[in-house]
Amino acid sequence: MVEIPKFPYEFIGEVLISQAEIEKRVTQLGEQITHDYRESSKLLLLGLLRGSVMFITDLMRKIHRPLTMDFMSVSSYTGTETSGFIRIDSDHKTNISGWDVILIDDIVDSGYTIYTIRKLLLDRHPNSLKVCALLDKVSRHKVPIDIDYCGFEIPDYFVMGYGLDIDEKGRNLPYIASVDLEKYQEMRAEGRL
Ligand code: IMP
Ligand code: MG
Repeated sequence: MVEIPKFPYEFIGEVLISQAEIEKRVTQLGEQITHDYRESSKLLLLGLLRGSVMFITDLMRKIHRPLTMDFMSVSSYTGTETSGFIRIDSDHKTNISGWDVILIDDIVDSGYTIYTIRKLLLDRHPNSLKVCALLDKVSRHKVPIDIDYCGFEIPDYFVMGYGLDIDEKGRNLPYIASVDLEKYQEMRAEGRL
């Protein structure tokens, strides 16, 4: 068991992935991408806001190639369940035609987000399109998803930290922790959140 440092979130369950483990894995992913894209001069990291922000900013520093970064903002979640309907709140700015795009998200759960956005991006004719996710809840997939660069497979816990949130809370934790959902609901019911 990793000891949980004091943070003002009383609803942290347990630390699933430590800061050191994340750093090590992000470095590996960066090395792999650096190698795979060694021939490319038009590499675009396309992150999904807001969950992928911490991941993408760390990852890009581990990729030793020229690259560009862009973002899309999408939503489907209220609380801890996907609605299945993916809404695009803001689109990317780059014309991705001819670019080698890596679509980056924090976590794949049902897979609806990546499935939907991937299809949409393919219609915009990138030179290539790959998917990178820090976390994958494999047992929860509802659509077929290929993740080209995956940080960690995790069991079916609702998690927060390292960019991931529960109702916008918990993104600043430097590690990935499970959410104690019982405690969370209790605090909400008491108006403490
Ligand atoms: P999907 O469309 O069901 O695959 O969900 C993907 C999105 O749901 C991710 O981009 C996250 O924003 C959010 N999400 C899914 N599971 C979690 C979780 O355990 N913690 C925080 N956000 C999550
Ligand atoms: Mg997200």
